[in-house]
Amino acid sequence: MTGSVHLPPFLAACRRQPVPHTPIWIMRQAGRYLPEYRQVRSHAEFASLLRNPELAAEVTLQPLRRFPLDAAILFSDIMTPLQGMGVDLSFEPGPVVRDPIRSDAAIDALAQLIPERDVPFVLESIRLVRAGLPAAVPLIGFAGGPFTLLCYLVCGRPSKEFGAARSFLYSSPGAAERLLDRLADAMAVYLRAQAAAGAQALMLFESWAGLLAPPEFERFALRAARRTLTALRDIGAPLIYYVNQGSALMECVAGLDVDVIGVDWRSPLDAVRRRLGPGKAVQGNLDPAALFAAPEDLRQHAGRVLDAGAGSPGHIFNLGHGIWPDTDPDAVARLVDYVHERSSRRAGAGAAGT
Ligand code: CP3
Repeated sequence: MTGSVHLPPFLAACRRQPVPHTPIWIMRQAGRYLPEYRQVRSHAEFASLLRNPELAAEVTLQPLRRFPLDAAILFSDIMTPLQGMGVDLSFEPGPVVRDPIRSDAAIDALAQLIPERDVPFVLESIRLVRAGLPAAVPLIGFAGGPFTLLCYLVCGRPSKEFGAARSFLYSSPGAAERLLDRLADAMAVYLRAQAAAGAQALMLFESWAGLLAPPEFERFALRAARRTLTALRDIGAPLIYYVNQGSALMECVAGLDVDVIGVDWRSPLDAVRRRLGPGKAVQGNLDPAALFAAPEDLRQHAGRVLDAGAGSPGHIFNLGHGIWPDTDPDAVARLVDYVHERSSRRAGAGAAGT
């Protein structure tokens, strides 16, 4: 179909089609590094922001007004649907679960998620954002990877090692699988509802994948993620699986039926692509710390990521993990401009030259 050349660059790159420039968006692009976000937050708690569609849509659109980003991501949190399943949690600022889940009874007590009933504000935010975005800027809907959600549910709060969650996998593997299945099915329903409300790509954040060795990653995290993602395939929206600290896991995710693998900054993208094989686009992977480099140095670091991603179509530029709250927004502006300018020169040269 020739119509595909008119896909927005972000969606074209997800499908490994040629693009006029390498698309870029930034994980946690709506957030505390933006003064306009801090302004909204100064009179609204994070938890109430999430539940207020007008404010959530406003905050989602803030970075798009400042920078010519190629995609928007809904302002929400991976823990939001769990509140809809009856989990009592607060943000301090990381998620804190009042009664961590460590027993069969606690797993059974998780309510089924019916998005229209339990998290209608998320779906309304999506509709508002979609109405406020230009057609060329797709909106990404997202959910937490089942294993990443398990980490917070079992440990109860953010942690470096998530020891209680990892020991739970070994001490109660059957219960862990049951919890993961429940979460996987709920996230599939949740993401499907986001797509129906207007999200044009769906991303699963497996932020704590790197805590696991390949066999446990396969048995617990990947099996559950596959359950979620397989259930979404018929929608037709690109699926993105972000595997933080996944250097040891690329062969495991190579067999997953998704369009895009999100990669942290530790592995060069050309090596990642060799390990994933030709059927996947990659998203990443500048170190968020690189935004603190002098402008000339930042260009060099970003150029290296562009070069490593440029071997074949299907690179979406991003950071390797979320942007830090003390980042200078001007550095983001320079990064976005540089990625566009440098990659469109290359696309132009390629079209004229060969
Ligand atoms: O712009 C965007 O990317 C959309 C918004 C977004 C948030 N959380 C808002 C948020 C997204 C995509 C998330 C996902 C999320 N939440 C993940 C996966 C991505 C990743 O970073 O690995 C995880 C692990 C969480 C859990 C979570 N929520 C943590 C660890 C924290 C505290 C960390 C921090 O940044 O302070 C939160 C709170 C949170 N989620 C904030 C924001 C903007 C900070 C709240 C505030 O304004 O005080």
